[in-house]
Amino acid sequence: MERIGVVTSGGDAPGMNAAIRAVVRIADSRGVEVVGFERGYEGLIANSCRQLGPRSVSGIIHLGGTILHTARCERFKTDEGLLEAAENLRNDDVGGLVVIGGDGSLAGALDLSRVCETPIVGVPASIDNDIYGTDETIGFDTAVNTAVSEVDKIRDTAISHERVFVVEVMGRERGFLALAIGLTVGAESILVPEVPFDIDVISNDIMENHRKGKKSAIIVAAEGVGDNRRLTEMIAEKTGFEVRLSILGYVQRGGNPTARSRLLASLFGEKAVRLLMDGRRSEVVSIQRNQIFSSDLEECCRSVKPLDESLLKLANELAV
Ligand code: ADP
Ligand code: F6P
Repeated sequence: MERIGVVTSGGDAPGMNAAIRAVVRIADSRGVEVVGFERGYEGLIANSCRQLGPRSVSGIIHLGGTILHTARCERFKTDEGLLEAAENLRNDDVGGLVVIGGDGSLAGALDLSRVCETPIVGVPASIDNDIYGTDETIGFDTAVNTAVSEVDKIRDTAISHERVFVVEVMGRERGFLALAIGLTVGAESILVPEVPFDIDVISNDIMENHRKGKKSAIIVAAEGVGDNRRLTEMIAEKTGFEVRLSILGYVQRGGNPTARSRLLASLFGEKAVRLLMDGRRSEVVSIQRNQIFSSDLEECCRSVKPLDESLLKLANELAV
């Protein structure tokens, strides 16, 4: 194998750059060239790419975002788009492709692998941490830490004003971010899409806590639970307290990756190149109990990662 490609796709995640760096430098050390496709699958379809060497990835390990840029690409969901990408990979003599992205990007990688000779390996990178088969995705730890430092600030004003705050966090339809953030800020309630909740119970808990001397509360709500503005209004109506909504938004996707996200990215990047050099195809790298593995890309895409609901119970027990 003389040349491999690398692409970052879908929502950016802090640590994507560290993963690109690892892919490029490990490939170089094995005498393999790397081309980076730009703007996610848009770049694969348009054949927009550039050569990456060890020096082109200097000084990026600590940067959020992705130097290759990223995109959501509707055309990649069509046969025409996939075939165009496959042809470009063939014409460019790309002997293997590393796709760094979230669950959608991995679904795209699987679709591409079905129409394309080029071996493809996926690298899970998403703040949502919703990819089956891996305990953690690149960027998740950074997003959790970013959100925790923001919610800590909200806690200060919540305590001062004796208010209730609903803090909406990202995660798309899943609650991994909300659960990790909620647990580590000591939230009074954590709302995730996977577990139904009752607004009356939440409101009663807030009032009961108030009677016991706890005059403020933080409710961490995943964006996937629905209309958090309406939820905020309903809790205000039911409790009679001042309730504010704070939507954390895109700060969760940016910023310098934590040491943990950088380490994971470096390990994943190395493993991805090794898999391609070993002749493997349609696999995805993962971490399970601190060990790096790989598994079948199709199994990863068709399976749903379970949320550890026992942690919600723990959070409730701790938030007395
Ligand atoms: P993420 O990778 O962060 O989950 P998306 O879900 O937006 O982000 O997916 C990124 C891109 O992957 C999409 O814009 C599209 O180009 C491609 N993609 C997503 N789902 C599919 C699919 N089922 N088939 C083919 N391509 C897909
Ligand atoms: O998948 C990462 C993520 O940040 C989700 O948590 C969020 O729902 C979504 O991307 C936002 O997507 P966009 O960048 O298209 O607004």
